[in-house]
Amino acid sequence: MNDLSETHTSTVYVAGVKYSCVPCISGDGMDLQLNGRNYLVTAASRGLGFGVAQALVSDGATVTICSRNEAALKKAVSSLGEHASYVVADLTRPSDIVSLIGNVRDNVGRLDGLFVNAGGPPPGPFESLSDHDWQAAFDLTLMSAVRLTREALPLLKESDAPSILYSTSISVKEPIDNLLLSNAVRPAVIGLMRTLARELAPDKVRVNAVCPGYIRTDRVKELLSKSPSREEEIVAEIPLGRMGTPEEFGVFCAFLLSPVASYIHGAVMLIDGGLYRGMM
Ligand SMILES: NC(=O)c1ccc[n+]([C@@H]2O[C@H](COP(=O)([O-])OP(=O)(O)OC[C@H]3O[C@@H](n4cnc5c(N)ncnc54)[C@H](OP(=O)(O)O)[C@@H]3O)[C@@H](O)[C@H]2O)c1
Repeated sequence: MNDLSETHTSTVYVAGVKYSCVPCISGDGMDLQLNGRNYLVTAASRGLGFGVAQALVSDGATVTICSRNEAALKKAVSSLGEHASYVVADLTRPSDIVSLIGNVRDNVGRLDGLFVNAGGPPPGPFESLSDHDWQAAFDLTLMSAVRLTREALPLLKESDAPSILYSTSISVKEPIDNLLLSNAVRPAVIGLMRTLARELAPDKVRVNAVCPGYIRTDRVKELLSKSPSREEEIVAEIPLGRMGTPEEFGVFCAFLLSPVASYIHGAVMLIDGGLYRGMM
């Protein structure tokens, strides 16, 4: 039986005496034990990734974010503050992923967690999609996760509480109309994560996946601005009666990445306001 339990303690010194502590909840809220820890959040100049970076920084971590557009990254980092830095990287390019992790290793020197996120594959019905579209979706969604994991693992294994969180979609639970590429390729990320949960447990690397339903990011707002009636239809299907916010998504993910979530491993978690109707 693999034991991940020792990762959930932290060490403090009082009058020179060493104490091991479990996470505590004080009047100020839960301490996620992120002080001094560093996280890499990919595809994070805006949207879901930015929400996660914001939550990690506001709880005391340092973060490195990446995406393709440098101007957007600069703006994001200036809003995140002095504990954030950026690297320009296109996650469909293997060499960019190597440079990204090399940058974290050389400039920060530690990595406690990795939030794996990328842009979404384009919509379209089966008969509109070429081999090129399928290959591009495979590279963007699955191979970026594979390559990020491979490059980051040596550095993650040096942490006392390493974790990887894969961001997927509710489409891994039930197909979304007109999003065939997402419906077909995202479940492969779950297969990767579930296998790694067993393979990486001896190294104490926790892995999990989150499946957002509708989170009102800039991209979702832009898409829905073209069709306000579509937004009403979507919200009518969500039991909580609204879309989620990037802040709500970010706080949940920061918790899952943190040492406090020390016994959550191999899990696939929805954050969808109750939208998914299945039993499992
Ligand atoms: N929001 C939701 O409700 C929801 C629900 C389910 C799944 N998702 C999925 O979650 C992911 C993020 O969604 P979002 O709503 O946060 O989108 P968003 O607001 O458009 O943000 C996407 C981020 O990814 C970056 N990005 C895109 N392609 C990239 C690439 N090849 N390499 C590096 N960075 C890249 C973008 O920056 P650059 O363009 O500058 O690179 C941007 O920072 C997408 O895959 C989406 O399909 C979202």
